[in-house]
Amino acid sequence: MPITVPQLLQRKSDGRPIVALTAWDYALAEVLDQTDVDVVLVGDSLGMVALGHPTTLPVTLEDMIHHARAVRRGITQALTVCDLPFLSYQESPAQALHSAGRILKETGVQAVKLEGGHPWLVETVARLVEAGIPVMGHLGLTPQSLHQLGGFRQQGQTEEAAGRIAQQALALEQAGVFALVLEHIPAELSRKITNSLEIPTIGIGAGPHCDGQILVTYDLLGWGRRRPPFARAYADLRGQITAAVQQYSQDVRQGLFAPDSP
Ligand code: KIV
Repeated sequence: MPITVPQLLQRKSDGRPIVALTAWDYALAEVLDQTDVDVVLVGDSLGMVALGHPTTLPVTLEDMIHHARAVRRGITQALTVCDLPFLSYQESPAQALHSAGRILKETGVQAVKLEGGHPWLVETVARLVEAGIPVMGHLGLTPQSLHQLGGFRQQGQTEEAAGRIAQQALALEQAGVFALVLEHIPAELSRKITNSLEIPTIGIGAGPHCDGQILVTYDLLGWGRRRPPFARAYADLRGQITAAVQQYSQDVRQGLFAPDSP
């Protein structure tokens, strides 16, 4: 049985850190499922790591549904959450309900995530929660607002910006989000927010004080050409894939591959 939303909430009071990672297809999800990862996020970062877009902005609701269905087929243990992509929820609460409803109905994931904390968005979150849809929030560096933020840069550096993020975190909690991703903000700010909330915070580039951590699995595996300064690679998959392909290529060219069939 997959971890439930109430069980995830319990992790905070138990003081047991939440382990979260992203996935974008069945092959990766099925491997993550063999581990003890608590949350698998079908993040819209898949637009960059799996689809080759320069940002997450071009990702569509159909893209997310397609990938979330594949991921969900590989997961039996973790709570699976799917991102609402850019402009699939910002128009109105009705649009958000329609998009989130489609994701839950068509993919089998248990929850959705959306970015930002403006008052109108907080209202949208409340509507989704009233409809029985678990929502994860996301504050700090919110990549769907990349052009407004001026790049993938740390947020909450001034007192005013930090205060705004802390206030939005409280408003999102009151609206009913069950967890909050804090991306690329100062560690002291995420500590303050984590201590002020009853729901768990899940950090990415937000220091050690959050109730859990998330990474884009591509970065953790050392698969990409570049990775954000805050992401740690625990493997060098890019190096290993390159070496394996080069060895295969050499073997084929030297007539060493394809021995007689058994
Ligand atoms: O899209 C994504 O992968 C995310 C994580 C970075 C939290 O939102």
